[in-house]
Amino acid sequence: MSLTPLGSQELPAMPAARTATRSTTAPLTMFGPDFPFPYDDWLRHPAGIGALPEERHGTPVAVVGGGIAGLVSAYELMRLGLRPVLYEAGELGGRMRAVPFQADPGYVAEMGAMRFPVSATTLFHYIDLLGLRTRPFPNPLSPHTSSTLVHLGGERHLARTVGDLPAVYQEVADAWEKTLREEAELAVMEDAVRRRDVPLLKAVWNRMVRTLDDQSFHGFLAASPHFRSFRHREIFGQVGFGSGGWDTDFPNSVLEVLRVVFTAADEEHVSIVGGTGRLVDGLWTLGAEGAAHWPAGTSLASLHEGRPRPAVTALRRATGGITVEDEQGSVETYPAVVFTPHVWTLLNRIDCDPALLSVPQWTAVERTHYMGASKMFVLTDRPFWLDRDPRTGQDLMSMTLTDRMPRGVYLFDDGPGRPGVICLSYTWNDDSLKVATLNDEQRLERLLAELHRIYPEVDIRQHISGPPVSVTWETEPLFMGAFKANLPGQYRYQRRLFTQFVQHGLPAEQRGLFLAGDDVSWTAGFAEGAVTTALNAVWGVVDALGGTSHPANPGPGDVFDEIAPILLPE
Ligand code: ARG
Repeated sequence: MSLTPLGSQELPAMPAARTATRSTTAPLTMFGPDFPFPYDDWLRHPAGIGALPEERHGTPVAVVGGGIAGLVSAYELMRLGLRPVLYEAGELGGRMRAVPFQADPGYVAEMGAMRFPVSATTLFHYIDLLGLRTRPFPNPLSPHTSSTLVHLGGERHLARTVGDLPAVYQEVADAWEKTLREEAELAVMEDAVRRRDVPLLKAVWNRMVRTLDDQSFHGFLAASPHFRSFRHREIFGQVGFGSGGWDTDFPNSVLEVLRVVFTAADEEHVSIVGGTGRLVDGLWTLGAEGAAHWPAGTSLASLHEGRPRPAVTALRRATGGITVEDEQGSVETYPAVVFTPHVWTLLNRIDCDPALLSVPQWTAVERTHYMGASKMFVLTDRPFWLDRDPRTGQDLMSMTLTDRMPRGVYLFDDGPGRPGVICLSYTWNDDSLKVATLNDEQRLERLLAELHRIYPEVDIRQHISGPPVSVTWETEPLFMGAFKANLPGQYRYQRRLFTQFVQHGLPAEQRGLFLAGDDVSWTAGFAEGAVTTALNAVWGVVDALGGTSHPANPGPGDVFDEIAPILLPE
């Protein structure tokens, strides 16, 4: 692709993503920056996202993995008149896992995805389609959070906004803001994302990709004149921005963090009322009204007679497609397969024909890097933390950010007199490993002991109803981690996986398998990336089966050459 220089008068025509179609005050959305395709507009377009020749209607297409990526691709393939055949090795939902509490199954613990940025407009297409209600998520220092306690180096600071914290916290916040403006072109990037100015976005972002792919998040901070002080970097790592401390991301490529910032992915989070399970069940049971081929009321559940197929054990090239074998010994050949689980399952659980991917793609699969994460939740008799401390007049307990083992403590209340939920700890990587080998009882003891040091007056245990629930994603056999995170120098690998859905130039034996989901996404750890890569795969399947997009509504593969992620030299 040719890069349009900044300020050029001759901008290339961008059919699906015309330049500057929105105003400077339009909201930030998860648009680009690596592949600025307007998935939200594409889905909403009255012409639909594509059409298949009639003789293809009813053709079975395998979808491996029933997480959000698998469900979205299966749902859209069904709407296009194909017969998605969904395989799921564990539970539908994947990392959208909501576990009911034993003491009151009306309340759930959100073990994986729990907070969604409103800038995730493609994900919200489905949340809105299902008519799900959302409510603000109680992140640190958010206007919806009653109070936040920052506990670093043994000192406690209670705050509603950053302005309530000691001056050094304001200095840290200013240093981050200035670093973003001066070292990462924040103003231009935000303006380009708001206006969906594709040439501008690509010109500026591609320049950053070239210079910053080799830089870690910590290296980027340390190189900023505003973060000369280690103390400031340390506090920043512990308190961070948006959803909290990001120091466990310090070794990652800084591009991973900048993307999140430019697309407001770590701001204004909401949770789904009733739990993320509503989204999972909703997509599974939603009738595909106006679908090609299928009668009204057809749903994924009805096509599968209520249950997805079991775990896939082998994927092989066959004449006329790809053969999928499952745990129960069924063997079926499909013209196309959408693959959404962790790509490492292609190495350790599924006997996958090496010919299905190129050697460079296999290298990218092998090098895929995940963050670990652990959480522990308890149900409480009521939201006792909102009681006033008689001595201080403040909340008894607050959303807590600490440099000690629990790291992040989140409080969820459902109104006075009703049960409450506490996430006693949400941790990543090294902090997650600290609890990974403990059983629930040991975890609970350690976390309550740590929280007792922060809140010596509060007896959390007396309010707990029933056993806790916990997860460590890196030791979950089917997941091996919580979400992908690229290390410095991994942009090329990410590009190989992300662009795999465009298969025109590929040899015949490498066609028909479409990778999608978190691993393939540029914004891993955000459902938006799973959803948008699922839509890429849907485009790929339509294309592979001889279908096309409507000319008025070109899809991601149709405009690929114009907006493709930058190809760095090998
Ligand atoms: N979105 C997830 C959350 O809200 C985590 C993703 C953060 N990404 C990262 N690389 N740390 O907790």
